[in-house]
Amino acid sequence: MRGVESTSLTLGIETSCDETSVAVVEGGRKVLSNIIHSQVDLHQEFGGVVPELAARDHLERLPGLLDMALQKADVKPADLDLVAVTRGPGLVGCLLVGVGVGEGLAAAWSKPLTGVNHLWGHIYAAMLTRPDLEPPLLGLVVSGAHSDLVRMPEHGRFGVIGRTRDDAAGEAFDKAARMLGLGFPGGPALDHIARTGDPNRRPLPKPSLPGLEYSFSGLKTALLYRLRGMGESVTDQDRADLAAAFERSVVESLLEKLDLALEQQPVREVVVAGGVAANTLLRQRAAEIVAGRARLTMPPLELCTDNAAMIAAAAHFTSPSLPRPPWKVAGVAQRPRPDGGARPIAVDPSLGWEP
Ligand code: KG4
Ligand code: ZN
Repeated sequence: MRGVESTSLTLGIETSCDETSVAVVEGGRKVLSNIIHSQVDLHQEFGGVVPELAARDHLERLPGLLDMALQKADVKPADLDLVAVTRGPGLVGCLLVGVGVGEGLAAAWSKPLTGVNHLWGHIYAAMLTRPDLEPPLLGLVVSGAHSDLVRMPEHGRFGVIGRTRDDAAGEAFDKAARMLGLGFPGGPALDHIARTGDPNRRPLPKPSLPGLEYSFSGLKTALLYRLRGMGESVTDQDRADLAAAFERSVVESLLEKLDLALEQQPVREVVVAGGVAANTLLRQRAAEIVAGRARLTMPPLELCTDNAAMIAAAAHFTSPSLPRPPWKVAGVAQRPRPDGGARPIAVDPSLGWEP
């Protein structure tokens, strides 16, 4: 665990898209609080996330959520060792709000501050789920904007081995849900009606690209044409059947590549995370496919979708600004922090897997 004190306290702040969240995590593993406010109601009437509204709402909600997170964790600002905030990828206005608030708090409390890669956070949600989970691991991160297969040889190092050529899995679910008239947010709604559908009644093609690449745009077009062909006669059962077929095609495609990656380079730990990892069929099928070959960790639903605990966990294991022993040993004079206190964080809306 890189010599970091296991009792160190990290405050996490997450505002990259439409969830505002503040969390306190102890030792990178134990969630003391993880307060999440979803903006679903705010964006529902627009059928998608409106960036300006999202950013303003983050700013309005953060102070209250911060109080709640500290109170629930029974922690005072003085007890904290590190403030961690998502610096990308995400919506630029939303990221700026979180980073601005993080910088203000770190300066006011004289605490070190670190910027965290949101994608790393999704993987680190698994560390919160299983106390003994350590890299090396193979990860599949499936969210609204990403479908990435990554190898993580050690803390803070990620190599992308597969990604999507076009839509991300979550984006595909959201668009399919809109076509099926299920509204926003689409992924959970599609998951819900797929449970009453039969994927064999109106099957859709399973995307199949060579190697470890994904593509979901053809599947989306196939659904569109299928619906057009059915005209006005689409019943609720048809919708459920098509949802189930679409879900099966996405899930089997995601797992086919995970299976291939595992075969190409066996590894003992597999993590499937990100918002789409909340999907019922994906959870069930991932367990079946990985069984007997590696240990699979899928975070519980509240740690799959965006949250600040995963950001705090990622910061704990990877931040260069976290104070380390001997600075915290009683009686030893505190040396100045390496970064001299709060340092500006570079917001990057299109950050990949780099630090
Ligand atoms: O990780 P996340 O909360 O935000 C991003 O970082 O993008 O992922 C959000 C995505 C959305 O596309 C949402 O529709 C999808 O995750 N999602 C689901 C389910 N729950 C959330 N997709 C399928 N089934 C679900 N149960
Ligand atoms: Zn996310």
